[in-house]
Amino acid sequence: MQPMKVLGLVGSVRRLGNSEILTKEALMGAEEEGAEVEILRLTDYEVKPCRGCAACLFQGRDCVIEDDANFIFAKMAASDGIIVGVPCYILEATAIIKQLIDRGFAPMQQNTIRGKVGGVIVPYATRGWTQNVFQQTNTWLLSLGVDIIDQLLIHVQGLSEAPLFSQAIERARTLGKKVVQAIKRGDHSYQGEEGICPICHDRNLRILKDMKTVECPVCAVRGTLQVEGGTITVVFTDEAIRRHRWTEENLRRHFTYHLKPSKAFFIKTKGERKKKTQKYKGYLGM
Ligand SMILES: Cc1cc2nc3c(=O)[nH]c(=O)nc-3n(C[C@H](O)[C@H](O)[C@H](O)COP(=O)(O)O)c2cc1C
Repeated sequence: MQPMKVLGLVGSVRRLGNSEILTKEALMGAEEEGAEVEILRLTDYEVKPCRGCAACLFQGRDCVIEDDANFIFAKMAASDGIIVGVPCYILEATAIIKQLIDRGFAPMQQNTIRGKVGGVIVPYATRGWTQNVFQQTNTWLLSLGVDIIDQLLIHVQGLSEAPLFSQAIERARTLGKKVVQAIKRGDHSYQGEEGICPICHDRNLRILKDMKTVECPVCAVRGTLQVEGGTITVVFTDEAIRRHRWTEENLRRHFTYHLKPSKAFFIKTKGERKKKTQKYKGYLGM
């Protein structure tokens, strides 16, 4: 039998920073459960911005940019479990995660990473300054089809301070073990702290213009608010939950019926575009 592989991905530049330490602790937990482990510091690799050439969309190709993103995605595809450790920077995950969200366009279509078990660890410094951090890790991993089974928000501020907090270390180690146990059992259900969205478990909601419907901005699951005795409940129907943004079927539809048909319009309007863009060409030196 092939050994299970768990990959740790660190989203902080800081060497021996809290993300690295907590990810390593989780990987030690994964090893204890019998997994082979590996770690990459994402910012050590060259990840250029997506250039919007759409070769992955219209030609079904791997990303054509020559940098390390394809290597990172190949490592993820070759793993059974993926643990992302990333600090919160200005309410969000660090920029490398957004860069990889965009560059994930090809593996997102190819489903090469779908079905892996995921865990996320976020060290942060200031309570109340973390509102959007899981939106990005969720968008990245869910768009690739990773089943996130746990996500931790760990309060730790200064460089390398994580080992001073035994509870934080224990939580990270347990997350690593849980990832391997989920792989072994083949049960990828979520075990982390419950939030509001039934898919990503985050607590952020948009209120839609009808002033009745709410929506998870990441998963596009829609529900309704009910207030009883001052307590808010958000009700999602089973149907709405089944139809969330990240199902394999919904992503296939997105690419097939929303994105790919734009090619015909683009080709049809070639002459008109050439004429009408003249005015912008060279304006202000670019
Ligand atoms: C530029 C910058 C922005 C930060 N923004 C936030 C923030 O918005 N919310 C927060 O809780 N912590 C914030 N932090 C603190 C880090 O999340 C915290 O120190 C974390 O433990 C760092 O992890 P690392 O050692 O893996 O880099 C910020 C740190 C830096 C350097």
